Amino acid sequence: MIKRTLTVSLLSLSLGAMFASAGVMAANEPIQPIKAVTPENADMAELGKMLFFDPRLSKSGFISCNSCHNLSMGGTDNITTSIGHKWQQGPINAPTVLNSSMNLAQFWDGRAKDLKEQAAGPIANPKEMASTHEIAEKVVASMPQYRERFKKVFGSDEVTIDRITTAIAQFEETLVTPGSKFDKWLEGDKNALNQDELEGYNLFKGSGCVQCHNGPAVGGSSYQKMGVFKPYETKNPAAGRMDVTGNEADRNVFKVPTLRNIELTYPYFHDGGAATLEQAVETMGRIQLNREFNKDEVSKIVAFLKTLTGDQPDFKLPILPPSNNDTPRSQPYE
Ligand code: HEC
Ligand code: HEC
Repeated sequence: MIKRTLTVSLLSLSLGAMFASAGVMAANEPIQPIKAVTPENADMAELGKMLFFDPRLSKSGFISCNSCHNLSMGGTDNITTSIGHKWQQGPINAPTVLNSSMNLAQFWDGRAKDLKEQAAGPIANPKEMASTHEIAEKVVASMPQYRERFKKVFGSDEVTIDRITTAIAQFEETLVTPGSKFDKWLEGDKNALNQDELEGYNLFKGSGCVQCHNGPAVGGSSYQKMGVFKPYETKNPAAGRMDVTGNEADRNVFKVPTLRNIELTYPYFHDGGAATLEQAVETMGRIQLNREFNKDEVSKIVAFLKTLTGDQPDFKLPILPPSNNDTPRSQPYE
């Protein structure tokens, strides 16, 4: 009897100590868990979701935001660089839209300050959706089902590009991925990571990856040079921040990408040059930290990175209103 009480109190003591140390630990970690979000305006997010999936915002009537940021595949297209209007080869790899609300700015070079400003870009980009803002407005305004929703959300049924991008941005704010194994570990569940994953995290932290990949998104919080110790070999002409600032010192400086859901968002780097996570980790070690990881270290870091896959957005596929006699026709081959 005495023995049993002793065991129980010892157990609760060690459990208490475990939670206490887990609490302290999470507070000291360079990465924080992702919190679930509820949209500020659910009707607006729903409208934004419809627009995100509507290919009629493109000239061809075929390309939607979801074509290149496929929410069934981690919010990317999983190809080296995107395919745009009339099968044009895109200049750069499509980053994920998941957790993009946490980025300090949008695009690899940070040229759009937020999601609303970003969303105006692809619709009128001749290499992407190849429409114009005026035509996109006319297309959406032609459908009374859309106008009704604009009225409900914005107070009048006027359809403007400003309202379209505001709604899309509101939807994108909902695309966060909490609940990953690593977040469970951060929140105190010691068993959430196995030995390899934990060793991988310690390598990730100890070798200095966290200097650049940190915060809740494990990236997205700074611009850094690609090729700190050794140059990055690529045929892709993108110059990074230099295209925005005009500063030679900003050549090959890119926004540090989020590593959340990185298992899903292959291929890697702005040119899509690394097909596998192993290759990306090996390259990062060599050119960013001047460190040659052996095979075992690479596989442990990769095991850790795969624990960053969170709960994917889970929603009903939007059913879009049909075009009618007033809707401008799509031009898929022009
Ligand atoms: C033809 C493919 C394509 C389409 C269509 C497309 N995008 Fe993109 N998207 C890209 C590429 C490529 C980039 C990176 C461009 C760059 O950084 O210069 C990008 C960047 C972004 C980013 C920035 C993410 C980050 O981490 O910087 C967001 C957000 C985004 N797109 C949302 C959208 C929305 C919303 C739409 C629809 C209105 C859309 N995209 C349509 C290919 C596409
Ligand atoms: C000095 C800053 C810095 C350090 C240190 C660093 N990274 Fe990176 N990381 C970047 C930048 C910048 C990019 C984007 C580079 C590009 O595509 O041009 C990147 C890209 C990546 C990518 C590809 C992401 C994607 O979506 O394409 C992975 C994976 C990655 N880093 C993992 C790591 C690992 C693992 C370490 C440690 C071994 C590490 N990084 C160290 C700055 C850094």
